[in-house]
Amino acid sequence: MKTTDYSKLASRYDKNLYRSINVELDPHLKNYIKTNNRTVYDVLDLSCGTGLYLAHQIKHLTEQKINWNGLDASKEMLEKANEKLEKVSLLHGFVEDMPYPAQSFDYIANTYAFHHYRYKEQALDEIYRVLRPNGVYLMHNIAVDDMPRWWLYHYFPTAQNEDQKRFWDKVMIFEQLNERGFKVDVKIDYQLGEVKVADYLPYAENRDISVLTLISDEQYQEGLERMRRDVMDAPDKTVVNDFAEMRCVAKKV
Ligand SMILES: C[S@@+](CC[C@H](N)C(=O)[O-])C[C@H]1O[C@@H](n2cnc3c(N)ncnc32)[C@H](O)[C@@H]1O
Repeated sequence: MKTTDYSKLASRYDKNLYRSINVELDPHLKNYIKTNNRTVYDVLDLSCGTGLYLAHQIKHLTEQKINWNGLDASKEMLEKANEKLEKVSLLHGFVEDMPYPAQSFDYIANTYAFHHYRYKEQALDEIYRVLRPNGVYLMHNIAVDDMPRWWLYHYFPTAQNEDQKRFWDKVMIFEQLNERGFKVDVKIDYQLGEVKVADYLPYAENRDISVLTLISDEQYQEGLERMRRDVMDAPDKTVVNDFAEMRCVAKKV
């Protein structure tokens, strides 16, 4: 599988406003805190990127004592995270060989990152190792198998082949976690509708969606031109679009 170079993407990652608008107060973290009474919680944002998830949780979870941690393979993404976060332990490192002792964390969040890992089985072994018994691992990601009519595949069809090579489907994710001793619950939120092409053109132009860096420049330009032409010819043009988000909650039992 091809991999995205985040050193080149870091400066434009947060310009995609869709990312910050859609960060939620993690209901699974909230639930973990509610159902596990501890004096201190150790939370890791695995592949924290520019720190969007951490910044949002920290802002809202002010009543509990939480040690916040972030790990990422890209120094440039971590620099961006560092600009928006205080009192967070940010480390440069790789999921396949994490710089933490065994059983360091109560909760690990992992948002929009698992498909980037070249050695996914090793990553899951490491996640299991650094999580405490009864700890929770949340894998939150898009579920590309359930979104064949994504606007992005409509305009950039070769992107779909690249995604097929790097995403595991939900059954694989379930089984791989299950056989490592996690109790797993997978939920998919699915939407099918029409979207205005003009609204999505800025996302394509920003080229921060990782799969757009994995197709050739020629394929990218071709799709972009097609989008621009469609918007010019008919500013209100819509395309059918589907979108699926997976939240996989895995408890180490
Ligand atoms: C799409 S970004 C997601 C960032 C953040 N979690 C978010 O939701 O905005 C994917 C992140 O995974 C990181 N990453 C890729 N491979 C990694 C690896 N092997 N170990 C740790 N992080 C990795 C990248 O550097 C990048 O910051």
